[in-house]
Amino acid sequence: MIEDFDVGAAWHVAAPYAFLAGLRARAPVFKSEHLGAYVLTRYADVRAAYGDPRRFSSRGSLTISRSLTRATRDKLGEHGSFLSSFVANVDPPDHTRLRRSVSKAFTPRAVAAMEQDFRRLNEDLLDRVAPRGHADFVTDLGHEPSIKLTARFIGVPEADEAFVQARVKDWFQLFLSPQPPERQLELADGFLTYLDYVDRLVAARAKDPQDDFTSLMTSLIGAELTHREVVELISTILLGGNDTVPNQLGNAVLRLLREGVWPVPPALVANAVEECMRIDGASLGSFRYAAEDVTLHGVTIPRAALVLLSTDSAGHDESVFPDPERFVIDRPNAAEHLVFGYGIHFCVGAALGRLQLRTALEVLGRRLPGLRLAPGQDITYRRSIVGRGLTSLLVEW
Ligand code: HEM
Repeated sequence: MIEDFDVGAAWHVAAPYAFLAGLRARAPVFKSEHLGAYVLTRYADVRAAYGDPRRFSSRGSLTISRSLTRATRDKLGEHGSFLSSFVANVDPPDHTRLRRSVSKAFTPRAVAAMEQDFRRLNEDLLDRVAPRGHADFVTDLGHEPSIKLTARFIGVPEADEAFVQARVKDWFQLFLSPQPPERQLELADGFLTYLDYVDRLVAARAKDPQDDFTSLMTSLIGAELTHREVVELISTILLGGNDTVPNQLGNAVLRLLREGVWPVPPALVANAVEECMRIDGASLGSFRYAAEDVTLHGVTIPRAALVLLSTDSAGHDESVFPDPERFVIDRPNAAEHLVFGYGIHFCVGAALGRLQLRTALEVLGRRLPGLRLAPGQDITYRRSIVGRGLTSLLVEW
């Protein structure tokens, strides 16, 4: 019997469900020594906590930079608290203001307008890869269209895409996953180079605005946003677009191939996306801080304690999703999963994420109807506290 979370172990991402079911049944408020956090696992509790930002604060919740060494902090200087004003990392009233600004770029019309672009990016990629007959889905198929779409949305010139992609990975690792001291210094270098780049992009758009996210946000500096907030927004949208959607797509393709539902009938694609998110979510949950003592199911979470809202567990809660370990492509309430969060921080890119997942599955199903898993591979995931993404997925057609 597993006693605590273990982010260093493969099961933490690959197969935590028996452990999570035990927590839902026996310890719905679990104090994890390993995570240094209380963990909520029942659907109703997870949703209620997301919906109660006064008691479950987002302030500083994203920043794991507590693990940075002295030398790394010195190197980073004023940038050591990067993300401190990011929209997902603050409470109202700052959150209300930031969210209003960022939402301007995600109107239904703006999102719908990206579908054609995204479809073309997928078709172009398949023109190049399809003749090969095999690929690593993760490196060859899953990432490129989302990365290119996000870069265009932000306004990153095509020539800089590879640079930006590599640097975004640096800062993500530096701030969101614990790293050994030597590696921290390397990542900090990459991060500072990246900040410089974004600063220059913002300055360029201030002088000569274009039709992109950076120009729109830059136009709000002084009125609604600060320069730093704009830099953080750009950085985190790059991360949201570059990583979560491709991770979710890889998880979905693996699931669909294993379940033998490929290609997905077009009428079922939208619900299949929701069921794939519910059962193999790319996000495992969100962190919060208790703003006061909170007593739940007889356990008191002390003020200032870190709390993990396990959306991964919520999506497998048998009281909401009957027979939760079974993939049901037309499950009526699949879309009630909490993989995009809930409440005031509900993912601002959810509609765009869904659009990409649906479009990618449609195009892939049509262009590669014979897609199958290559035999004899080990399925492994990246080690992570809060994300689920495959390291590789070998496929043939
Ligand atoms: C399948 C893909 C995605 C998943 C699983 C995902 C997941 C999430 C989750 C769980 C949250 C809530 C965080 C919290 O409450 O602490 C969130 C917020 C956010 N997401 Fe996403 N996301 C995805 C795609 C995207 C995309 C494509 C973008 C932008 C292009 C994006 C941008 C954001 C932003 C800016 C927030 C902060 C919103 C706020 O705090 O008000 N996400 N996302």
